[in-house]
Amino acid sequence: MSKKSEELLSRLGVPKEATGAHAGEWLSASGELQASLDPTSGETLAEVRGCTPSEARAVVDRAAARFLEWRMRPAPKRGELVRRLGELLREHKVALGELVSLEMGKIRAEGLGEVQEMIDVCDFAVGLSRQLHGLTIASERPQHRMIEQWHPLGPVAVITAFNFPVAVWAWNAALAAVAGDTCVWKPSPRTPLASLAVQALCNRAADAEDARGVLSLAMGGADVGVSITEDPRVPLVSFTGSVAVGRDVAVRVAKRLGRSILELGGNNAVIALDDADVEMVVRAVTFGAVGTTGQRCTSTRRLFLQRGIARSVTERLSAAFRSVPIGDPLADGTLVGPLVGSSSVRAYRAALEKAVAQGGEIVAGGRVLERPGFFVEPALVRAPRHDAFPIAWEETFAPILYVFEVADLDEAIAAQNAVPQGLSSALFTDSVRASERFLSAAGSDCGIANINLGTSGAEIGGAFGGEKETGGGRESGSDAWKGYMRRQTCTVNGGKDLPLAQGVAFGGG
Ligand code: UN1
Repeated sequence: MSKKSEELLSRLGVPKEATGAHAGEWLSASGELQASLDPTSGETLAEVRGCTPSEARAVVDRAAARFLEWRMRPAPKRGELVRRLGELLREHKVALGELVSLEMGKIRAEGLGEVQEMIDVCDFAVGLSRQLHGLTIASERPQHRMIEQWHPLGPVAVITAFNFPVAVWAWNAALAAVAGDTCVWKPSPRTPLASLAVQALCNRAADAEDARGVLSLAMGGADVGVSITEDPRVPLVSFTGSVAVGRDVAVRVAKRLGRSILELGGNNAVIALDDADVEMVVRAVTFGAVGTTGQRCTSTRRLFLQRGIARSVTERLSAAFRSVPIGDPLADGTLVGPLVGSSSVRAYRAALEKAVAQGGEIVAGGRVLERPGFFVEPALVRAPRHDAFPIAWEETFAPILYVFEVADLDEAIAAQNAVPQGLSSALFTDSVRASERFLSAAGSDCGIANINLGTSGAEIGGAFGGEKETGGGRESGSDAWKGYMRRQTCTVNGGKDLPLAQGVAFGGG
């Protein structure tokens, strides 16, 4: 094991014998080794033993058994577990943030930001634990009352991706735990160390609240994912990842009429009109396109510029793309770290080759760096017409931005909405009319629509997710908690008569 990862894991309290299976205690696992690769050097940081499908089922067994007690614990008491987890995350923010950077390659500020996102959602969930309220509904029948109440759902599965290896779990797990569910986590096989660290913190929080086994871990490959996804005891599968795998998860869960929350690909666009603040456009688009090395679901991938500002914005963006410091994500001053692995580098290359073949012109970046690890230059591509440039309709998880020129807002909205994905979108303008058009039913068709800020970096307080191939799921803030609970409509008769709804007369009445 590398020195740096060993030191961080020990600061985070991960025991040496930890494996990728945890259900109230670390279980012995005999599945495949999950290698944690350092994307900065290409070398192996450590290897963790994952579960076999039957070991994953044993984790679900325990989560299902634990649920029977947890669901009866008052929700504000369940909130105590999440409050403690939030406190531990505050204490260990630096170590966990650095571990995320080390293993996944996002820069330190973003690694810390990711842990902050976990802390924020823990706070949010603790508040929610006292607000899981339903409605009282007026009954049409005398002395009757209708109530809508929310109950825990069961042991739920959370399958997460490498790019937000800890925050997306927290969006789901913090809500699920206060909702009264137990939670089995299958993290990406690329980021085993971050998930061990989070599990170790969960255990400490759980020890203080007699809640071991509420939050558990079943690390593994696709076979483990399939086994959890098809398990009829798991009423909900929350999946974050590619459209291809998400489609498979959706079908498997639907086949047994389970519930899924899907957060799949994005192909997010910024539209900037002639009256936009150009300085803000350049800053927001640079962060959106090159931040996290283009590996957010919310990364900016397409830019629609109105004719009047197209040339100047493109020039300023090329200068920004060329000067952005690329390097070790943990070093001061770095703004762009490596891609996560060699397959991402290949995808970057292939996308740029197609872009050029389809009439695009690379105006900045575009090269793979000659150094160890998986480094590429952020690429800015001047594109021909959107409908004649199919590569821009695909999500490539890399820092590539396609820039289009448009005549007006309507043309931009039509092109923005033409792609199959529908996660995040943004408009830069000073016009109230344009902004209202963009936010109207005929405007952006995405789950997230912003005015005068970029496509990435959403706060946890809003519901997060998108439409079309993005999968339709919502996680994190607003009323996303309802996805982790079952709704029950109750009618109570306080009288002595038995009136029927709709005034139906039946027999002696
Ligand atoms: C993701 O990329 O899966 O809005 C999540 C954002 C972050 C979360 C991204 N808060 O960019």
